[in-house]
Amino acid sequence: MKILVTGIAGFVGFYTAKKAVDLGYEVVGIDNLNNYYQVSLKEDRLKELGLSSNDSISDKYEKLSFRKINLSDDLKMAQLFSEEKFDIVYHLAAQAGVRYSIENPHTYMKSNAEGFLNVLEGCRHNNVKHLIYASSSSVYGVNKSVPFKTTDPVDHPVSLYAATKRANELMAHTYSHLYGIPTTGLRYFTVYGPWGRPDMAPFLFTDAVMNDKPIKVFNNGEMQRDFTYVEDIVEAQMRLIDKIPESGGETSAPNTSHAPYRIYNIGNSSPVNLMEFIETIEKHTGKTAEKVMQPMQPGDVPRTYADVEDLFELVDFRPATSLDEGIKNFVDWYKTYYKK
Ligand SMILES: NC(=O)c1ccc[n+]([C@@H]2O[C@H](COP(=O)([O-])OP(=O)(O)OC[C@H]3O[C@@H](n4cnc5c(N)ncnc54)[C@H](O)[C@@H]3O)[C@@H](O)[C@H]2O)c1
Repeated sequence: MKILVTGIAGFVGFYTAKKAVDLGYEVVGIDNLNNYYQVSLKEDRLKELGLSSNDSISDKYEKLSFRKINLSDDLKMAQLFSEEKFDIVYHLAAQAGVRYSIENPHTYMKSNAEGFLNVLEGCRHNNVKHLIYASSSSVYGVNKSVPFKTTDPVDHPVSLYAATKRANELMAHTYSHLYGIPTTGLRYFTVYGPWGRPDMAPFLFTDAVMNDKPIKVFNNGEMQRDFTYVEDIVEAQMRLIDKIPESGGETSAPNTSHAPYRIYNIGNSSPVNLMEFIETIEKHTGKTAEKVMQPMQPGDVPRTYADVEDLFELVDFRPATSLDEGIKNFVDWYKTYYKK
């Protein structure tokens, strides 16, 4: 089985590729190594996989290779798919980040909308057996009904990032219907862990606390996030590989269809208050954070909380790493990586 992992130099893509080669699959990873955050961190993730930042074959894993490709380059994407003939696609590359989408809307359309279309076209013309792609809890907008269920309405995104992720789900449905491509969309809930993203709270707060800098606490701390440990995400994701959606599902529900199309939440299902989260970072860094209270940011949502029952039923696994254990692992990694 040959697998494409898009966004292999990214946080979740890196773990996904590693897990897939560990399980014996042949993996090709692509990424454009853009500078949304430190390129050196992306290069180091590739190095950890035995890859260089140009087209390369891993010197650590026999069946792993990397190609530097931009998702929105339709010719190169078409060529990649027709040369490699993938069985499974994990599409994890995207322009992530809610706050950045306020300042840089065009990047989101190029990478997340056009880029996703190129992935769908590649699947359409090359008989891909299962497309598994990253959506996001942000599609729920300011949904007040908790926990968030995949049957809840998701028609009111509050950032362009969320709108592109919801658009991906709709585009996937169209291709599942028109061409019978089995697609599974996964709505991730705040993923964290070692090698995590420098633009996200676990990293930003740890980095500030370790360097004796103040941290910005949005919405005066009145926030809850369903922090989900990266290895839990990857475990659930891998178990989905042969859970190929079939036609003939319930048509009136948003998460299933007459087409081979399914949507699942992947979250810890155990939301944490922002202040408790900060205390956990303080505990593991051994330092006290200087907190600067700030108002709610445009595009942000006060709370995320995943219902994961349908996923659990399907793959017999639910993310469950505690915040305490996960943050400890993250802080240990941070101290080693940044030599603190
Ligand atoms: N981390 C989270 O908490 C979270 C939450 C919800 C959804 N997601 C989604 O999960 C996926 C993985 O997120 P992540 O945290 O690993 O993000 P990440 O930014 O670390 O990884 C994304 C990777 O995609 C690459 N990329 C971006 N645009 C590209 C393009 N046009 N062509 C080629 N490569 C491109 C980037 O260089 C990066 O290495 C994304 O789709 C993201 O939107 C993540």
